[in-house]
Amino acid sequence: MKISVIGCGYLGAVHAAAMAELGHDVVGVDVDKNKVEQLAAGTAPFFEPGLPEILSRGIASGKLRFTTDMAEVKGAKIHFVAVGTPQRKGSNAADLTYVDAAIESLIPYLSEGDLVAGKSTVPVGTAVRLAARVSTAAPGAMLAWNPEFLREGFAVQDTISPDRLVYGLPQGERAAAAKAALDEVYAVALARETPLVVTDYATAELVKVSANAFLATKISFINAMAEIAETTGADVTQLADAIGLDARIGRRFLNAGVGFGGGCLPKDIRAFTARAEELGRGESVAFLKEVDAINLRRRQKAVDLVVSHFDGNVFNKRVAVLGLAFKPDSDDIRDSPALDVAAQLKGLGAQVIATDPEAIANARRAHPQLEFTDDIEAALAGADAVIVVTEWKAFRELDPVRVAELVNRSYIVDGRNCLDPAAWRAAGWVYQGMGRP
Ligand code: UDX
Repeated sequence: MKISVIGCGYLGAVHAAAMAELGHDVVGVDVDKNKVEQLAAGTAPFFEPGLPEILSRGIASGKLRFTTDMAEVKGAKIHFVAVGTPQRKGSNAADLTYVDAAIESLIPYLSEGDLVAGKSTVPVGTAVRLAARVSTAAPGAMLAWNPEFLREGFAVQDTISPDRLVYGLPQGERAAAAKAALDEVYAVALARETPLVVTDYATAELVKVSANAFLATKISFINAMAEIAETTGADVTQLADAIGLDARIGRRFLNAGVGFGGGCLPKDIRAFTARAEELGRGESVAFLKEVDAINLRRRQKAVDLVVSHFDGNVFNKRVAVLGLAFKPDSDDIRDSPALDVAAQLKGLGAQVIATDPEAIANARRAHPQLEFTDDIEAALAGADAVIVVTEWKAFRELDPVRVAELVNRSYIVDGRNCLDPAAWRAAGWVYQGMGRP
C-alpha cells in the first residue's frame, strides 16, 4: 500500500520505517531539511534500538523515502499525521499548531477516497474539528484517529507488533472504507490477532490520553507510597512487589524513584487537565495535578537526600550523576528527571559531572553549564557523592567494590532503586534509595 507519514520525529520516523519494513511503499515528509537528509541517508536522528537497521533496509529496498516536499504524498492512499503536540508556552494546554499546519499543507494533495489518519496525541475534540476541515476543503477525503502507544526504547517492536490497535472512525457510510484502509496497513498485526478496538473519534483520542494518565498515576501512586515509606521505615520496593502480586494491580509501572519524564507523560497529563477544564470537567481529572506534583517532588527529594548528607551544603562537593536520559535505551532528555536533578545540584554549587551512554550530546545542548564525560570511571573518579538517576544497564551492573576504589567518599543515592542495597553496603557504601530504609 502507498502510505505517507507527515512529521518524522520520534513517532513519525519510526512509523514510516516500520511500515516500509512491513512491505508498504512509504514516503515520510518533514519540514526540517536536516532531519530529512539524515533519514534519507539511512541515519536515525535520535537513538532508538533497531531503528537504524529498518531505516537502511527500507531505503535500500526503495520502499522508504523522505522528503520536505509535501507534493510527494500524491498517490498515497493513507496519510498518517505524526507531528508533535508539545505543551503550549505559558500554559498547560497542547499546542496544536503543527497538527493544523500539517493538515493544511496536506489538503491540496488529497484525492478522492484518501484517508488522513491522525496519530499525534491530541486533546479530545480535535479529530471532529479536523474532519470538518478536511470534508470542506477536500470533500472526497476522510479522516480517522489511530492513536499510537509506542514506548521509546521499544518503539520499533511496539510499532511492528503493537499490543492493540485503535481506530476512531468517521460516522456513516465512510466508516467502512476508512476501516478497510487501516486494516490493509495493519494486515500483518491483524493476522496475528492483535486486539482491535473500533470506535468513534472522541473515544480513540481519549484512549491515548487516558492510558498515559493512568500510567502516570500508577507511577505517582507508588512514589506517594515511597513518601509514606520514608517516614515509617517501610520499603517501597517490597511493597510494590507485594501489591503487584495482585493481578488486578500488576507489578509493572510500580517502580518508585525520581519519577516520570519524557516527551509524553508529563505534557499529556497537563494537556488533559487543561482540556477537561475547557470542557467544564476540571474536577474529573483534578487528581492529575496531584500526580504531577508528587512526580516533581521526587526529583526534589533526590536532591535533598544529597544535600542533607552534606549537612545542607553541597558547595564544591563533587557529585557524579549517572544518567541524563529520561529513561534507559533512549537519548531523549525532554522533561528528564535525571537532567533536572543534575541541574539542581549544580545550581546549589556542587561540582556536577554527569554521564550517560547516549544522551550527552542532547544534554549538553540543553545545559551547557554542566560538565559531561562519556567515561563512567572518569565521572566517578574523586566523587564525594554518586547519584543514579537513569537505570541504564551499565549503571545497574556497576561493581560496588571497584567503584569504591574510584571515589573520594563511598556515598550513593539510588534514584531509581535499581541497585542491590545489600551488595553496596557490604562494599562499605552509605546507600540511600527512594522510599527504602
Ligand atoms: C509513554 C507510554 O508508556 C507510551 O505508551 C506512550 O505511547 C508514550 O508515553 P515513554 O514516554 O516512551 O512512553 O516512556 P515510559 O516507558 O512510559 O516511561 C515514562 C517515564 O516513567 C520514564 O521517565 C520512566 O523512567 C518512568 N517510570 C516508568 C517510572 O518512574 N516508574 C515506572 O515504574 C515506570
